[in-house]
Amino acid sequence: MVRKIMIAGNWKMNGCLEDGVKLAKEVASAVKSRNKCPCEFVVCPPFTLLYSVKKALRGAKVALGAQDAHFNVKGAHTGDISPVMLKNIGCSYVILGHSERRADHFETSKLVNKKAVAAHENGLKTIICIGETEKQRDEGKTIEVCSAQIRESVPDNATAADTVIAYEPVWAIGTGKTPTASDVEEVHAAVRKVLSQKLGNRVASAMRILYGGSVKPNNAKEFLSLPDVDGALIGGASLKSEDFMSIADSVC
Ligand code: PGA
Repeated sequence: MVRKIMIAGNWKMNGCLEDGVKLAKEVASAVKSRNKCPCEFVVCPPFTLLYSVKKALRGAKVALGAQDAHFNVKGAHTGDISPVMLKNIGCSYVILGHSERRADHFETSKLVNKKAVAAHENGLKTIICIGETEKQRDEGKTIEVCSAQIRESVPDNATAADTVIAYEPVWAIGTGKTPTASDVEEVHAAVRKVLSQKLGNRVASAMRILYGGSVKPNNAKEFLSLPDVDGALIGGASLKSEDFMSIADSVC
């Protein structure tokens, strides 16, 4: 099963109009100049930049993603953004269940599942994040925690076309610390096994599982060459176009 490598940038809560548009234009022209690169590129700016970034990406094969979406399509939900609104301004992806949302906004896997169902129903593809905390890792519970998050967060009718998984150990995010390549492969293989139990072997073997957590130009190749790693979700290093592209170049 050939799975297209995804290089996705999660800009988090970074960037005002000028720097966001500048970064998007740099990524757009770098991707255009690598027209033979087999990767799928996605950038996920904050809500305030989505529309301007979409315009800045015009003509480049870079998909636009948001970092969260509500499970309702409209209504009295102050401060929230619906999947319909995101689709309407040109998003094709939405990140759901990032550990920062699980921690800062008390999002549960059940809620993530509900959001994913709504996103899929409204034509968005999801990047569903899972990952263990340092304490859970120290207690030897990594596989158990990630398996439970997959079972609960991923909709029962998810397909490889509408869902991408991102394994992001919480302790590796923004810290410069990373698991070993063999730890990552072990978790990804376990995740694929749970996906197979949940969605069937055909869907599971086609579904992409990204690694995220301190992916940098100097370690990307090691992770991206693992058999069950199908791309990267990149935070800090996605804010510099050279670093973001150099991560892609390790597989281009
Ligand atoms: P990081 O973030 O690359 O800065 O560790 C990754 C993420 O949280 O998606």
